[in-house]
Amino acid sequence: MPAPKNVILIGMMGSGKSSVGRALSWALDWDFVDTDALIEDQDGRDIIDIFEGDGEEYFRQLERGVAVDMVRWEHTVVATGGGMGAQPDIADALQEAGLVVYLEASEETLWDRVSKDETGAPRPLAMARDAFIERLEARAPRYEELADIILPTDGASIGELVDFLVDNIQRSN
Ligand code: S3P
Repeated sequence: MPAPKNVILIGMMGSGKSSVGRALSWALDWDFVDTDALIEDQDGRDIIDIFEGDGEEYFRQLERGVAVDMVRWEHTVVATGGGMGAQPDIADALQEAGLVVYLEASEETLWDRVSKDETGAPRPLAMARDAFIERLEARAPRYEELADIILPTDGASIGELVDFLVDNIQRSN
């Protein structure tokens, strides 16, 4: 497999895309982009205000625009928003953009992290446990289909996940 031009992290809210992505970008000495932060910069509003003002479908359109741009990036680790890896109409763009890594975690781990997260920005899709699990179950097959690598994260440290990915990327050089 040739060296990827970018690494695209996909997975549910709470799967660790931003923390793993940031640490991976340091380890590779690549840029780091969080698509939620990029959309907030481009739009001038917080994600929660975009959802409240214009609705989820509008936000999904903005995500599709980012996916199209991503194809031109190089040496960037991308932490996608939880919905990006589940949108079939941008699956081709994400695959063309780089190595797609699905950070997989159990329902319990994800729910535990999302429900206890008091530090991050408020999540517009904050929801009850059942709705969260339902969304996870609907998305998981799409994440799996899109991914080049499915990386189980339960019980793994950020350092272990980063080491695995760096090794994988360096071996393809
Ligand atoms: C969303 C996940 C969020 C953000 C938005 C919608 C989702 O990103 O894009 O709130 O649909 O799962 P994180 O996965 O980074 O929390």
